[in-house]
Amino acid sequence: MNLRLVVLIGIILTCFSYTNCTFKYSTESYHSLYSTVGNPNISPEYDCALRAFTIEMAAYIAPPAVKTNWTTLTQSAFQMNQCNNTLYSTYQSYNRHHKAFNKPLKTNQQTCYHKIFVHDIKGNDLFDGTFEQPKKTIQAALSLTRILRTGYGNENILCIIIRGGTYYLGTNATSTSSQIGAIALTSNDSNLIIENYENERVVLSGGTLLELKWSVHAKTLTGGTIMKAQIPSSINLDQFNELYIDNKRAIVAKYPNGDPSTQGLYSQDPGFSYNSQSWISPIHRPSVEIHIQEPYRNGTVFSNYQLGVGGGASVFNPPTSFWSTTSPPQGNNYVVPRGLVVKSDALPHIRNWSEPTTGLVHAFHSGYWGSWIFEIASVNTSQNTIMFGRGGFQEARGSDSGGAFYISNIFEELDSPNEWFVDRHTRTLYFMPNETMPDVFVASQIPCLISVSGSSMENSVRNVIIRGLIMTETSSTYIKDYMVPSGGDWSVHRGGTMYLTNTKNITITHNLFTQVGSNGIAVIDYNGETQITLNEFVWLGESGIVLVGSTNGIDGFSVVSQPANTLIESNLIHESGIYVKQSSPVLISVSRSVSVIRNLMFNIPRAAINVNDGFYGNHTISYNVIFNTVRETSDHGTINTWDRQPFLSDAVQSDVPSLWQHTSYIHHNVLYNNYNSFYPIDHDDGSCFYEDSYNFQVYGGKKNYLGHSKMDHHEIYVYPDTKSSQGTGVCIADQAPSRGSSGWNEVWIENTCILYNSSVPYNIWNCDTANLFVPYLASNRIYIPSGTQVAFTCNINGTSAQLSLDQWQSYGLDIGTTVQSAPNIETIIQWGREMLQNTIRNNL
Ligand SMILES: *[C@@H]1O[C@H](CO)[C@@H](O)[C@H](O)[C@H]1NC(C)=O
Ligand SMILES: *[C@@H]1O[C@H](CO)[C@@H](O)[C@H](O)[C@H]1NC(C)=O
Ligand SMILES: *[C@@H]1O[C@H](CO)[C@@H](O)[C@H](O)[C@H]1NC(C)=O
Ligand SMILES: *[C@@H]1O[C@H](CO)[C@@H](O)[C@H](O)[C@H]1NC(C)=O
Ligand SMILES: *[C@@H]1O[C@H](CO)[C@@H](O)[C@H](O)[C@H]1NC(C)=O
Ligand SMILES: *[C@@H]1O[C@H](CO)[C@@H](O)[C@H](O)[C@H]1NC(C)=O
Ligand SMILES: *[C@@H]1O[C@H](CO)[C@@H](O)[C@H](O)[C@H]1NC(C)=O
Ligand SMILES: *[C@@H]1O[C@H](CO)[C@@H](O)[C@H](O)[C@H]1NC(C)=O
Ligand SMILES: *[C@@H]1O[C@H](CO)[C@@H](O)[C@H](O)[C@H]1NC(C)=O
Ligand SMILES: *[C@@H]1O[C@H](CO)[C@@H](O)[C@H](O)[C@H]1NC(C)=O
Ligand SMILES: *[C@@H]1O[C@H](CO)[C@@H](O)[C@H](O)[C@H]1NC(C)=O
Ligand SMILES: *[C@@H]1O[C@H](CO)[C@@H](O)[C@H](O)[C@H]1NC(C)=O
Repeated sequence: MNLRLVVLIGIILTCFSYTNCTFKYSTESYHSLYSTVGNPNISPEYDCALRAFTIEMAAYIAPPAVKTNWTTLTQSAFQMNQCNNTLYSTYQSYNRHHKAFNKPLKTNQQTCYHKIFVHDIKGNDLFDGTFEQPKKTIQAALSLTRILRTGYGNENILCIIIRGGTYYLGTNATSTSSQIGAIALTSNDSNLIIENYENERVVLSGGTLLELKWSVHAKTLTGGTIMKAQIPSSINLDQFNELYIDNKRAIVAKYPNGDPSTQGLYSQDPGFSYNSQSWISPIHRPSVEIHIQEPYRNGTVFSNYQLGVGGGASVFNPPTSFWSTTSPPQGNNYVVPRGLVVKSDALPHIRNWSEPTTGLVHAFHSGYWGSWIFEIASVNTSQNTIMFGRGGFQEARGSDSGGAFYISNIFEELDSPNEWFVDRHTRTLYFMPNETMPDVFVASQIPCLISVSGSSMENSVRNVIIRGLIMTETSSTYIKDYMVPSGGDWSVHRGGTMYLTNTKNITITHNLFTQVGSNGIAVIDYNGETQITLNEFVWLGESGIVLVGSTNGIDGFSVVSQPANTLIESNLIHESGIYVKQSSPVLISVSRSVSVIRNLMFNIPRAAINVNDGFYGNHTISYNVIFNTVRETSDHGTINTWDRQPFLSDAVQSDVPSLWQHTSYIHHNVLYNNYNSFYPIDHDDGSCFYEDSYNFQVYGGKKNYLGHSKMDHHEIYVYPDTKSSQGTGVCIADQAPSRGSSGWNEVWIENTCILYNSSVPYNIWNCDTANLFVPYLASNRIYIPSGTQVAFTCNINGTSAQLSLDQWQSYGLDIGTTVQSAPNIETIIQWGREMLQNTIRNNL
């Protein structure tokens, strides 16, 4: 067989395993704007080998059609150009000899009872929708399906097949809601497929193409030229909050300069200012407090349901928050500062601001737990003071003060290439080109492209497939309504590019969500068996996929308006949280049984996956490859969980209400814990009922904090001590265990932990041999630097002692555990490879 034939067969076979070959894919490549992604506390060769292994595993979980792309992307995002091509090159040859793992996703072949074609250029909405006589708009095709259903019945699958082209859904849009799409499916639209025609490139834009007559407005001192153009009267200026030029987000005029898409606290030039002088103190406004005494979870730090209504919580919609109570565990009546005083000359053009109230302040929370965006209410230039208007609700914890900040949407700050500003009074668009003027200017007009909304849970929309589309150029929503879903640190905007509510069996597959202002997909309240597979999400204003259910207060038992049995599989999610830093590729809040499997996620401001509460549980997070997280925030992990607010559900036994959740499972993930990520899996405040196993965790150990009932087994932790400055530094950090409320029923067995330069494997707070209250430890393999002595630290007779393994075991602890000298990096990687590949094979 000649080589060309082999290649051809390869392509055919690859395509064969998918209903639709087009795995939509961003054309974006990666720049090396980022500061180093590696771990400075470890030998560069070792670090490069661990990065290379992560890339190998990304290729391993990749769908075959995009294997090379995932490899190329991860190499670029991991800056492999910093590494010498020595040790880590082994992964390439290894890959060649091993049949990569891939369980093709089950793809039911659906037959269309009737096809309606849409063609933007050749179509006409008066046509009949045949291939030869296509409709012009998707909306007209949808109307036709509704007419056809009166004859065909509701059970036949109707298909809307879209021909290649760009569909500007923002043009003259009637709804600007982030919950009602330009294409709005309702309860009457079950059994529908909307997809691209063959491999044609179908772009759904949330904007409208601008036809502009440019003229020179002014030359700047730096030699740039500010151009101006009149904005057509059909453009809705309220929704024109993003400008996309040649399919990329342009920069709303800002100070300090910098592109929020590609610059942030992770880059050498962050585009943020650290020159705040002080923050103007908030005014505490008490909420009406709801405290449920019964039922409660005993044996738990966070035992009771509580909620603040109104007062400080009034900035949210609805005006309620777990955090807005006077003396909650960890709470303090939610507040944010009223304004900002900057150091003199920190904003060199502030005296020239002609209309400061157009402006926005983007500022980090003081603890870098997220960020806020405020409208500017007023400035006092003699005092260097900016007072805030609406905003500050884009995370739920609040604080008296903020951190790094930037100012945007001020005309006088338009002084750098690719910046723009709209003067709403004169309807003038100003823009500074980078030498030559670009061609295609698109003004955002709507945040939501497609909504699938049943009128009720009983009357849900069923059996819809959305496939093969590129969704892009939507409005931002960061200043719109936010709500606090539960007891995690999050607030969330319950809308997005796609919005789903009251649905069953909706499949969203092979789509590309790129350059969107809001969230990618918002899965809100009841949605059964949603499948989100083989999509790419990139360049997102907020999160990738948000799952947000609701309850009636504590009651999530008789009220089941929550996403249930969601599958999020084989997606590529990166470059999220361009504006909102308390955001993630995947948010799970008040949801049942979510599976997040085989996804690749990187370049993220905070956690890749955040589980905001202990509602129901039964989540599975497995086979994911995650790195470059917590790039701009702090005190967090690549995967983060919280469990502070109890809810009733039938998680423990069907038909029996309980405040306890079902166990959730985190296994076979590769978690490279770089940037500010403290723990690969940060089981933060109150997290309970997790079984974590077979994860390859680089630079971090296990964490327990104010929770209980978690089990870790067969984990591999690599060099957790190399991040000791950031709160961990050990195989287990058992923080603040307290009999009867936290730290009980914690199990850590059959794990492998390799220390780099430390011989202290555990940090168990309050360890005292006279009164032992420690996790159940057994049969672990601990590796320490050769030539060192292991030191299990624990108090004996009131003073801290360093125990040998024998001494430690003499208290009945860690039976079966061994301590040996650390092997070399190749051995460790080989253990990882065997663990992941063998167990994956066994699980097929
Ligand atoms: C994806 O990889 C293929 C080769 O397998 C390449 O031809 C294509 O250009 C890549 N796509 C992108 C967007 O990089
Ligand atoms: C690459 O090789 C050079 C020269 O041997 C060495 O100085 C450098 O530390 C190496 N870098 C890495 C990342 O291995
Ligand atoms: C949008 O509205 C404007 C002004 O009413 C009109 O001129 C234009 O034709 C409309 N465009 C479309 C695509 O309907
Ligand atoms: C659904 O169809 C029913 C019956 O044809 C009709 O009465 C109702 O208005 C439709 N609902 C929507 C949301 O279109
Ligand atoms: C919960 O309370 C019951 C009854 O007071 C007690 O028997 C049980 O041990 C408690 N559970 C925990 C975990 O404290
Ligand atoms: C600001 O305004 C002053 C006079 O009002 C002017 O001299 C100065 O050049 C302006 N600065 C900028 C950056 O436009
Ligand atoms: C700015 O603050 C100074 C000092 O408090 C005050 O006198 C002045 O009136 C303020 N200016 C404005 C525009 O509010
Ligand atoms: C402007 O163009 C130069 C040269 O092509 C490029 O290096 C630079 O990144 C561009 N700047 C912006 C803001 O696009
Ligand atoms: C889910 O929807 C798909 C596509 O419409 C259909 O083929 C499949 O049978 C549905 N599954 C169930 C369980 O209804
Ligand atoms: C747990 O989730 C799985 C899917 O991962 C589902 O099949 C199962 O029914 C769920 N169990 C419960 C008790 O909800
Ligand atoms: C290892 O730790 C020792 C003692 O804390 C320190 O002196 C040494 O520099 C460390 N070595 C490395 C490679 O970090
Ligand atoms: C601890 O104190 C007890 C009684 O004071 C003593 O018998 C024992 O030897 C001490 N243990 C150690 C390890 O010092």
